Amino acid sequence: MERTYWYKDAVFYQIWPRSFKDSDGDGVGDLMGVYEKLDYIKSLHVDAIWFSPLYPSPNADYGYDVMDYMDISGEYGGMEAFKKVLDGAHQRGMRVIMDLVVNHTSDEHPWFQASRRREEPYTDYYIWRKPKRDGTLPNNWDSMFEGKAWQYDEERKEYYLHLFAIKQADLNMDNPRVRDEVKKIMRFWLDMGVDGFREDVITFISKDKDLPNGFFLMPAAKGITHYSNGPHLHEYLMEFRDVLDQYDCVTIGEAPLVTARRALQFIGGKRPELDMMIPFQCMEGDCILIDYVHHPFSLLKLKHIWRHWQDALRGRGWNFLYLENHDHPRIISRYGSEKYRVESGKSLAASYLFQQGTPIIYQGQEIGMTNIRLKSIDMYEDVQTINNYHSFRANQPEQKRMERIWQATRESARTPMQWDDSENAGFTEGKPWFYVNPNYPEINVAAQEDDPESLLNFYRRAAELRSTLPVVRYGTFKMYYPLSRKLFVYERRSKAQRLLVICSYSPDPVKFRAPRGYDLKKGQLILRSHGDKVENNGFVTRPYETRVYLFQDRRGPVEV
Ligand code: GLC
Repeated sequence: MERTYWYKDAVFYQIWPRSFKDSDGDGVGDLMGVYEKLDYIKSLHVDAIWFSPLYPSPNADYGYDVMDYMDISGEYGGMEAFKKVLDGAHQRGMRVIMDLVVNHTSDEHPWFQASRRREEPYTDYYIWRKPKRDGTLPNNWDSMFEGKAWQYDEERKEYYLHLFAIKQADLNMDNPRVRDEVKKIMRFWLDMGVDGFREDVITFISKDKDLPNGFFLMPAAKGITHYSNGPHLHEYLMEFRDVLDQYDCVTIGEAPLVTARRALQFIGGKRPELDMMIPFQCMEGDCILIDYVHHPFSLLKLKHIWRHWQDALRGRGWNFLYLENHDHPRIISRYGSEKYRVESGKSLAASYLFQQGTPIIYQGQEIGMTNIRLKSIDMYEDVQTINNYHSFRANQPEQKRMERIWQATRESARTPMQWDDSENAGFTEGKPWFYVNPNYPEINVAAQEDDPESLLNFYRRAAELRSTLPVVRYGTFKMYYPLSRKLFVYERRSKAQRLLVICSYSPDPVKFRAPRGYDLKKGQLILRSHGDKVENNGFVTRPYETRVYLFQDRRGPVEV
């Protein structure tokens, strides 16, 4: 199959289905809710939708614990609703990709049930080990979500490995039958017309065969060096590539802790295993090691991470650009300012939407949703959040522990989408499964729909511009004023066009002067948050001011 690499021109939108839109009043988002909102999604000028898992699941990790890979959960409306959404998206010129969660299954998956009873061919579908002679666990690995990585199964009288929650049992990818199952799942969805996959923690699927003890690197990750980028990972991904090559689809690999250099091992070369990798470093502007250690937001750090990925992948791979997803708190609350919510939301949007790569917008990001701060840990639902509360800072005062949750919980990104100012933000007519952020009367889609200065319309305009300006796809990337702690300024340049993106990250006035070779008066201000005044070839910024200038010219380096 001839590949078109359509994703290089696409803007994606991520839906975490449980919280997007409920159509039947049970308080849980569903596919008919998505169907109702397809025109809204299209209005954002997006070209593709990524769905977080829609499969039947007991929801120990909200869908990331799959019970059946070839069906759609009844909670979400089942297969019929999915096909309607798929067709509806395609009719509107939007593609659809699924979350492929094959590092682990739910312990309620029939494969696991058969495996614990040693029924063939499922006996070796999972990673089972006997206790050590002294009765202790097979090794010292941690699970990311719940204590140690081993759970004893009374029925089989052995331990099984779970790198995440206890109910998420790791598959044994070394078993060729398991890999065949993965290929079958891929074909099933691709034959139905799905356009690709986001592959969940795909760099964890090959474990060191001897399962040696790990050492402490960061909390909840002892053992990670023996299962991240494991010995057969590339070989297995290449096997999957044989299937994928028969379709014009995209694959996006989730890769915790991946560096740009390592990413190129997956996405570089003549026949890459995957098309894009989800980097985590761009989520480390205010923390290290994903989110275990926090520090105040540093624009300097973030800018250098961005520049590093732009430079490292240029001409060799393709970037995946994002600021939010269902695993991280809301970006305005982290990198921006809740006080200057709209302004900082615009600055953040322009900071990433014009970089080279494929950007994705996460539901609610486009209206500037912010973090929720629930009073007590009992009000949270997420397995990781609850685990973090109990395992970190356990001896600190309650207030401190809750502050860490407010700062770091991914559940802040999972509150229901705020559609309007009616009860429950227009998300459901029933009782929502999780708390709606109390700021919904102010922050919602309806309030921003017709306001030309709203964040929502800024996102729309930015996404539209991306698709009409070839320089965004092809141009080189250059950062200006690398030492500024308040401004992020970058250029995209091709033979015929230059784009100058100026983003302030400060509420204070900052003197900006155009870099050498730029005459702002000759540029076209194609996107802006505030005014258009130019003095001395520059301007003094308003809080979090954002401007994007386009210059049409014939100079500049030859296009690469
Ligand atoms: C990925 C998902 C996350 C999930 C975990 C385990 O990181 O994005 O939501 O909890 O994998 O499947």
